[in-house]
Amino acid sequence: MTRLTDLPAWQALQAHHDAVKDVHLRELFAQDARRGERLSAEGAGLYLDYSKHRVTDETLTLLRQLAQETGVAQKRDAMFAGEQINVTEGRAVLHVALRAPRDAVINVDGKNVVPEVHEVLDRMAAFAEQVRGGVWLGDTGKRIRNIVNIGIGGSDLGPVMAYEALKHYSDRALTLRFVSNVDATDLLEKVRDLDPAETLFIISSKTFTTQETMTNAHSARTWLLNTLKDDTAVARHFVAVSTNAAEVQKFGIDTANMFGFWDWVGGRYSMDSAIGLSLMLAVGPQQFRELLSGFHDMDEHFRNAPPEQNLPMLMGLIGLWYNNFFDACSVAVLPYDQYLAYFSAYLQQLDMESNGKHVTLDGETVDYQTGPIIWGQPGTNGQHAFYQLIHQGTKLIPCDFIGFCQSLNPLPPHHDLLMANVFAQTEALAFGKTLEQVLAEGVTPELAPHRVFEGNRPTSTILADKLTPRTLGALIALYEHKVFVQGAVWNINSFDQWGVELGKVLAKKIAAELDSQDEPQLSHDSSTNTLIGRYRSRRTS
Ligand code: F6P
Repeated sequence: MTRLTDLPAWQALQAHHDAVKDVHLRELFAQDARRGERLSAEGAGLYLDYSKHRVTDETLTLLRQLAQETGVAQKRDAMFAGEQINVTEGRAVLHVALRAPRDAVINVDGKNVVPEVHEVLDRMAAFAEQVRGGVWLGDTGKRIRNIVNIGIGGSDLGPVMAYEALKHYSDRALTLRFVSNVDATDLLEKVRDLDPAETLFIISSKTFTTQETMTNAHSARTWLLNTLKDDTAVARHFVAVSTNAAEVQKFGIDTANMFGFWDWVGGRYSMDSAIGLSLMLAVGPQQFRELLSGFHDMDEHFRNAPPEQNLPMLMGLIGLWYNNFFDACSVAVLPYDQYLAYFSAYLQQLDMESNGKHVTLDGETVDYQTGPIIWGQPGTNGQHAFYQLIHQGTKLIPCDFIGFCQSLNPLPPHHDLLMANVFAQTEALAFGKTLEQVLAEGVTPELAPHRVFEGNRPTSTILADKLTPRTLGALIALYEHKVFVQGAVWNINSFDQWGVELGKVLAKKIAAELDSQDEPQLSHDSSTNTLIGRYRSRRTS
């Protein structure tokens, strides 16, 4: 197989980069009065302005050619068709089936999986209605008022992000908490003000063997039984979301209260499966289905929109342009909506666990950069923290600005001020301020260099009308598919995560050594042995 860097489109992009790398966005906008309208696309209720990117029409043509030469569309179709594209685990990758309408047909090994998906959704909905309606009661007959999701990674980040994002639509009589860290502080701080008799734990774990989750689940059980005393209480206060019925049963949860999903759903792609149960409890089945519709809208857009209008294609390819040709190593995701406080953290797992790979599908070590570092936090807070570096630092950091035309909390003048900052930041980053402009403002020549903004700092702006469950679904799916496009071009497996294994194995071994009463024979390097020794001699118990 031809190496990616030897492909005609890659070579052409390299030469093109040498020719255009210093062209300023000021010039590009001056050359085309309609650039702002022209370089935009719309799909699934999201409007993408990509005009403030350092791209020309030729750049975009070459990037699309690269997608063609690397078979992105064929790979996308293979995913939607249920082929085993996760080759290192021998699995299909079908999170798109989780939001397929009831009458869709998606086969895995010759079996249509859509009916099973809807069967689980219907069971989740029935359970959610029971809890929300006060029909499902705790062991002492009290109504459930607190929901605690225990999970980590994909079994936590999606639910917590989406719960925060859709809080406006949630039942405020319910208290939702999310416990993930194996640090007992996480669990104990989250339950300290809760009444066990009114608390329902959802143990969310695809494997039901994850150390952090199982440790927290057992401690939560102890916490509950300290008050409720009787083991049988577990049945009314614990439900499970997992693919592993045997382990769920072993823990003591009735499998009648288990909501399943499938090995073709990756953890970081699972928030729209039963892993979203806590969210469904918070916002209700109707809104949860709206969320799924939003995901599906974007799936259809990704599948059918032509490449020039295709949002995930555009974002994936433009991201790759900076990552591989400008050597930009990170992307800042900056949502201008407080409800999206956890969005960047969610995207960190989605993108970095998917595309943090250095070996191709053929087992070759890559000779090009793969997944970028994803970071960010909601505006406008970041403006008073790290934006200085984005504006005037030495690193090129492409940014995604995300904003909404309507506020869910319309309190004048807040929303206009918030959005004014979105538009101001992207304008300032693109166009900056020249030395001439600074001097013309009367700044002294000594101070002037410090006041110059080079500009030419690229941004995407994603605008939607309003943050609704449907918009959120579309937004998440946009990023899922952006990650897919990049992984497809890089020819890596975006759907395994072997890189997290070694640390897990070593932690298990070291935990056993810490647990030992005798001085264990430490077989690590001298640094690790010394650290373990110091910890053992000074720990509290
Ligand atoms: O961090 C590795 C990982 O396997 C993630 O991919 C996954 O989302 C997380 O652990 C949690 O796994 P589980 O849902 O099986 O507990």
